[in-house]
Amino acid sequence: MVTLPRIRVRPGRKLSGSVDVPGAKNSVLKLMAACLMADGDFTLTNVPDIDDVATMSDLLSAIGLDIRHDRTLGRLDINNAGGLHLVAPYELVERIRASINVLGPLLGRFGEVRIALPGGDDFGSRPIDMHLNGLTQMGAEFSIRHGDVHAFADRLHGADITLDFPSVGATENLLTAAVFAKGTTTIDNAAREPEIVDLCHMLVSMGASIEGIGSTTVTVHGVERDALRPTSHAVVPDRVQAATYIAATAITGGEVLVRHAIPEHMEMLLRRFDDMGVTVEPQHNGILVVGPEKLKSIDVVTLPFPGVATDYKPLVVALLSVADGVGIVTENLYPGRFRYVDELRRLGANIRTDGHHAIVRGVPRLSGAPVRSPDIRAGAALVVAGLVAEGETVISDVHHIDRGYDDLVGRLESLGADIARI
Ligand code: UD1
Repeated sequence: MVTLPRIRVRPGRKLSGSVDVPGAKNSVLKLMAACLMADGDFTLTNVPDIDDVATMSDLLSAIGLDIRHDRTLGRLDINNAGGLHLVAPYELVERIRASINVLGPLLGRFGEVRIALPGGDDFGSRPIDMHLNGLTQMGAEFSIRHGDVHAFADRLHGADITLDFPSVGATENLLTAAVFAKGTTTIDNAAREPEIVDLCHMLVSMGASIEGIGSTTVTVHGVERDALRPTSHAVVPDRVQAATYIAATAITGGEVLVRHAIPEHMEMLLRRFDDMGVTVEPQHNGILVVGPEKLKSIDVVTLPFPGVATDYKPLVVALLSVADGVGIVTENLYPGRFRYVDELRRLGANIRTDGHHAIVRGVPRLSGAPVRSPDIRAGAALVVAGLVAEGETVISDVHHIDRGYDDLVGRLESLGADIARI
């Protein structure tokens, strides 16, 4: 019988010391897809050692890239020798949402691609209508057959596109497609997450012409399909992993320097942490965090950047579970994203959900129990809760955590947590 790995956490010392934040999952996967846009040798550094990088490597290798991952150095060497196979098969697409990010690069550069439609995931259906509508405005045609989207365009042309909602994935696909379109494309109500800015910087270093980077209106002046060149690029630090170490420090009342965390990338969240009584002090190379004796409850609403990201939410709910008072958390991006609340309840948390809202009444202490990780961020939040749950918390389905966290257990252990992978 195969025993799957689990994470065991016991309450222990207050966390102390310093921890390095690795590169961002939500950036590196898109940067890897951007390597489809020019022939030659690319290098990505500050690459996190996470399972999604391996999955994306499998997908891009199937399309025709040659990828070497040096885990010790945190470096990807990617060779694009051309002759790509313009198909993204279901077995790979269904494993990560970011696989849809090959659409813009391949359609823009080669005028054709066949991609399996991404399915839903643990927190609900995730359509791609905004991606397809924007590309249609740029002259693409689509047909959906046998679960695949077939996309065609002789040559995309520039367009003025206004997104209904600042979707991260749609903004990225439209941006990358627009790089090769004839003429100028304007994307209004664009998402402006730091990971999108990172992608824009890489594209510009490859020779793309993009204005308004980091704003809600991005303008792309198209270049010829063979005009881009390969580049070397360092992945932006991961604000969600940073938030995880801040939350872990805060809940234990510890003191930790979260190195490489970029305060400007998480300003709203830092304000909310401050409201909860957590000291978060920007330093020249990170954020110094000092947790309070007792956390205070607050209300939090998730929004696109620069708002409090939905990906932080499970961490916030975990903190509110042991805070003084009642906090209401409102989810505006993914209505179904409260599944993990049942797992926190198993630890003794007092949480009621009502549609988009979670009402969290702080309890004096949580008590350890076996729980299941329902997705990446929720899994990390259960680990954080386990740091202060009496007895032992054992988290199963840790493959979700491994998708997006680079050695969460080792990093927390180095800060003094009583945690192990078993
Ligand atoms: C990305 C992140 C994810 C994060 C999310 C929001 C990656 C790999 N994932 O996901 O971690 O939680 O941003 O910050 O980067 N929508 C539509 N139609 C579309 C596109 C999106 O209705 O065509 C909806 C989605 O269902 C969702 C909302 O818009 O309710 C936000 O989605 P989007 O911003 O596109 O998120 P992702 O790029 O999928």
